[in-house]
Amino acid sequence: MAKRNLHGGTESHLTAAILAARAAGKILRSGFGQPHSIRMKGPTDPVTEIDRAAEDCIIRLLKEATPGYGFLTEERGTILGKTDLRWIVDPLDGTVNYSRGSPRFCTSIALERAGELEIGVVYDPLRDDLFAAASGRGATCNGESIRVSSTESLRSAVVGTGFPYDAWTSRRDNTAEVAYFVKRTLGVRSTGSAALDLASVAAGRLDAHWEYGLAPYDVAAGILLVREAGGTVSDYVGHPNALYGTGIIAANQSVHGEMLAYLKTRPVAG
Ligand code: IPD
Ligand code: CA
Ligand code: CA
Repeated sequence: MAKRNLHGGTESHLTAAILAARAAGKILRSGFGQPHSIRMKGPTDPVTEIDRAAEDCIIRLLKEATPGYGFLTEERGTILGKTDLRWIVDPLDGTVNYSRGSPRFCTSIALERAGELEIGVVYDPLRDDLFAAASGRGATCNGESIRVSSTESLRSAVVGTGFPYDAWTSRRDNTAEVAYFVKRTLGVRSTGSAALDLASVAAGRLDAHWEYGLAPYDVAAGILLVREAGGTVSDYVGHPNALYGTGIIAANQSVHGEMLAYLKTRPVAG
């Protein structure tokens, strides 16, 4: 997709998102492995000064490139714009890993136009992997076209997941789902960055990712990447609007079907 000639708004939006993601990535790289000031937003939900610095940088660059657009970001919440376009930003997805000097984290930036995803960029600054998608134009990693895996069945699939921030206290803690999939897949992974897992699904490095309780900024770019790479994304009842749903299943079509058959039997609340 990035090798094709994009037109007008889409091309400039994609360029702006990539520049912002790379600039944030530079901040993440330079702070990686250093001591951090960590504040807990919840028992399993830390934030560092780097999350905030990377987010400030992204907002500044995107405001310059696209004046008047709104924002939904992890650290600042909603910033109202003057158009129906808004950037959905997670400056650092994988903060727990980052704060421990563990190298799986990324920046995630998406552009939403009247509820539809137009652009999705996920940047892994340590591997220098830049995943990019534009609606209807495919998905790439470092400029090369990517596709979801062709793994045909769940039993041959390696699947990713994560745990909700309130897992200590909620009955909806994903443990029953993990127990189910551990016995029916080649492997279950919980690597601590949902956005990077979704990009990995798009690139066929992982066959699926499911998770309950993610926020739009965790999944927005990844949803578009998976769809544009030929995959299927839904919530736990099969509805395509996983962006604002309570659960997400992202996979190739056949693995998605098998996962959905089980996850739709799981209650979404309680
Ligand atoms: C977290 C990561 C993690 C997921 C958590 C998210 P953060 O985002 O995506 O993989 O399991 O639910 O909150 O806090 O590192 O940006
Ligand atoms: Ca996140
Ligand atoms: Ca984050």
